[in-house]
Amino acid sequence: MELLIAPGDITATTADVVVNAANSTLLGGGGVDGAIHRRGGPEILAECRRLRETELPDGLPAGQAVATTAGRLPARWVVHTVGPVWAKTIDKSATLASCYRESLRVAAELGARSVAFPAISAGVYGWPMDDAARIAVTTCREVAAQGAGSVERVLFVPFGERAEAAFRAALDAPDATGAPAET
Ligand code: APR
Repeated sequence: MELLIAPGDITATTADVVVNAANSTLLGGGGVDGAIHRRGGPEILAECRRLRETELPDGLPAGQAVATTAGRLPARWVVHTVGPVWAKTIDKSATLASCYRESLRVAAELGARSVAFPAISAGVYGWPMDDAARIAVTTCREVAAQGAGSVERVLFVPFGERAEAAFRAALDAPDATGAPAET
């Protein structure tokens, strides 16, 4: 599984799966969530509503992931995941890592070959960008080392120069999992 950086607008990113930085209601919001629903169209929200009426009556807990149609996006599915809200005194790193791990698990269950991630929790949810990028890259490398099923490519889609620099630095850091360096 190769890890690449593809800076820009994730709603314009061509991948089998585009990951949404959602909130637990799954009923939309701002940031990536707002952009995906705006550009993806009403079919995405309709499926989210159906999930809330059936499997997820209490919403999607932080750290978990669920798939819907991608509507009009250049993708086959949207995988919605809920990042943790950053807290200075509580280490929620495991929950943020779970967002990446669970999104890749759901993507592999769908048979997806490529997955595009935004910087989950690094916007409204306040996670420091450098640490968010480090957790994103480290977790995806761990999944790659353990075997990611059908997923062959992960695209990190940072938005803005600051985010791009953080993800480039995280990808340039040595791979502590011992897996061969990404191509
Ligand atoms: N493409 C790629 N990245 C984007 C885009 C976009 N179109 N729009 C925003 N981003 C970036 C932000 O700049 C930030 O770096 O995505 C990262 C995540 O920011 P948020 O979208 O605010 O997500 P998050 O921090 O996880 O907060 C989630 O915000 O939008 C609401 O409904 C959402 O309540 C939830 C919360």
